[in-house]
Amino acid sequence: MEIFEEIEPLRAFLQGKRSALNSIGLVPTMGALHAGHLALIRACKAENEVTVSSIYVNPAQFNNQTDLDKYPRSLEADIEMLKAEGCQVLFAPQDTEMYSGKSLTFDFGSLDKVLEGEFRPGHFSGVALVVSKLFNIVQPDRAYFGQKDYQQFQIINQLKEELKFPVELHSVPIVREKSGLALSSRNQRLSDENKTQALFLYHSLTDAKDQILNGVPFAEIKSEVERRAKQNRGVQLEYFELANKNTLQPLEDLKDIHNGIILIAAFVNNVRLIDNILLEKKR
Ligand code: PAJ
Repeated sequence: MEIFEEIEPLRAFLQGKRSALNSIGLVPTMGALHAGHLALIRACKAENEVTVSSIYVNPAQFNNQTDLDKYPRSLEADIEMLKAEGCQVLFAPQDTEMYSGKSLTFDFGSLDKVLEGEFRPGHFSGVALVVSKLFNIVQPDRAYFGQKDYQQFQIINQLKEELKFPVELHSVPIVREKSGLALSSRNQRLSDENKTQALFLYHSLTDAKDQILNGVPFAEIKSEVERRAKQNRGVQLEYFELANKNTLQPLEDLKDIHNGIILIAAFVNNVRLIDNILLEKKR
């Protein structure tokens, strides 16, 4: 695997690979890799001749300094995992390579005012900034993101449409532990007991999906989830919402339920976790 910390040598290397026959796929990450990230690498490898992964803990998307400081970092182990998956190129820059101290912000209208956007002001502006930089540096034909960060995918899609990035975006299903817990780099900060408490997220989503599809009003389901969260010492619920999967605005018309998605965010032992479930019909 070729490893680059600097933009120019990476650009020169990719220029040599780029040709009508070679497609370049990009998998952006913040490291502390797990099987969820590796599913993206695998999807990318299956469809592109060259797979480029990036590992960069992007300060611009953290609206909380402690969260940034505590974000797990494990570059050596990550490199071994990427090599084992057959990833050909890694871009792992330092802050000085990515930012020159000037700031640039994005506003995504209604899409970044709800859910994560409401609770993490500035977060998606920071994500859009770093993803724009990565798209400009790597100029991938395809880029791979997880359904786990569903709103992030919608934001990046709007970014691509507005800035005319010539990249195909792919969304990869959520990889979970056997228990149902969605894999996340932040899970490293959870004890076994915390992980059991964290199942609150997955169980709330799957129970709600069953209930909604059986006609139970979402308002009723939501107040029950809020009530159970209050009883659960380890869990601090931030939001639990039913939204339209394209606009992420509240879904009110139940005729549209198969375009629905339920999204949840909660703190477990001060670690912020998110998860979601689509309500689409099984095909
Ligand atoms: P990070 O949290 O490292 O996630 C990198 C990619 O892995 C994202 O597209 C995310 O949705 C995906 N992912 C994480 N957990 C997953 C799981 N359990 N199953 C499937 N995919 C999963 O998301 C970011 O980094 C950053 O915001 C980034 C896009 C790199 C910009 O800094």
